[in-house]
Amino acid sequence: MKKLRIGMVGAGNIANVHLNAYQTLDNVEIAAICDINAERLNETADLFNIEKKYATEAEMLANEQLDAADVCVWNCNHAKCTIDALDAGLHVLCEKPMAYSVKEAEEMLEASKRNNKLLMIGFVLRFDPESGIAKDFVDNGYLGDIYYSKATYLRRHGSPGGWFSNKELSGGGPVIDLGVHVIDLTRQLMGNPKPISVFASTSDRLKDRKYLKTNVGWIPKDAKPDDPFNVEDFAVAMIKYEDGKTTLLETSYSLNGEQTTKKELFGTKGGIKIDADGMKIYTEWNNFLADVTPHTENYKFGKEMFTAEMEHFVDCALNGTPCKAPAEDGVVIMKILEAIYESARTGHEVLLK
Ligand SMILES: NC(=O)c1ccc[n+]([C@@H]2O[C@H](COP(=O)([O-])OP(=O)(O)OC[C@H]3O[C@@H](n4cnc5c(N)ncnc54)[C@H](O)[C@@H]3O)[C@@H](O)[C@H]2O)c1
Repeated sequence: MKKLRIGMVGAGNIANVHLNAYQTLDNVEIAAICDINAERLNETADLFNIEKKYATEAEMLANEQLDAADVCVWNCNHAKCTIDALDAGLHVLCEKPMAYSVKEAEEMLEASKRNNKLLMIGFVLRFDPESGIAKDFVDNGYLGDIYYSKATYLRRHGSPGGWFSNKELSGGGPVIDLGVHVIDLTRQLMGNPKPISVFASTSDRLKDRKYLKTNVGWIPKDAKPDDPFNVEDFAVAMIKYEDGKTTLLETSYSLNGEQTTKKELFGTKGGIKIDADGMKIYTEWNNFLADVTPHTENYKFGKEMFTAEMEHFVDCALNGTPCKAPAEDGVVIMKILEAIYESARTGHEVLLK
């Protein structure tokens, strides 16, 4: 069986999650790993028995015969690591957000085209079994024309700290870190419409509330007392797409309100809500309003989402299977993210081309 020889770029938290998923696949060989942080590099390499370790991606690319790279580094380094790997002739899976800016995202897409190599973006919610079930209902017409969605990813007290809250390394706070997931998923379920404008507000009034004695939900692993916090802690945005379709985004690291992740779609024939309580469909039946709860347990086409994501990446790279999370969508999502920040900064609606 042909195995995909992968080089891991980054050895942090999400690289560990990816490596756990790769371990379940027979057609993968983790050939090498690199990280600029020697401690994390050694820790992860030891844990997953990866012999070939490098301090930089450049050294790894120069010394190893790889088929693909999996880019799991700080957002500010996504573009360089991805473009260097593509230019070295590798297929690339790059974590979300695609990049730090639209310009970088477009350069990454261009590098993938120039080298005729796959560039997949880590929009992992697309691989969540519940997303798959929702898409099944959407694709079979049960929601009709979906004209509105709500993308909600609110942490009550959940700044990861470290580089996540340092704008120079992350590009922003919950918008680029959390909102990106739910904007992408709701847009995909709405049929990937073209965004035409964004109107948004952000706030940094609460910041990371390090003085709190309670931790709710996310407990920052690497947070240090002197980590900078210069990103937004909350954002609300109205994203308008072509054909009068709209998404309302709410996302936060800090908020005096309920902690929740919710994806809601509203169509002419029905609506879907996915949250911590599961999935509910709002529809009409025999001229009555009716609420339907599909049995989603043991969904036979569903797998743990990271396993499904890695399996798909490997399948695309080895067999040329069409990619379900292509770089083209990553560029569109970056345009929306950048417009949210611009609208919040200027106080005006931002029009997108
Ligand atoms: N899909 C998801 O749900 C999800 C969850 C968490 C993080 N992420 C994304 O994954 C990426 C990494 O996040 P994380 O939580 O693993 O952070 P992390 O801090 O745990 O790990 C990042 C690692 O990248 C290394 N690094 C930075 N620049 C590098 C470079 N140029 N070359 C080699 N190594 C470099 C750092 O030293 C660090 O060890 C981010 O883009 C983040 O948005 C995605």
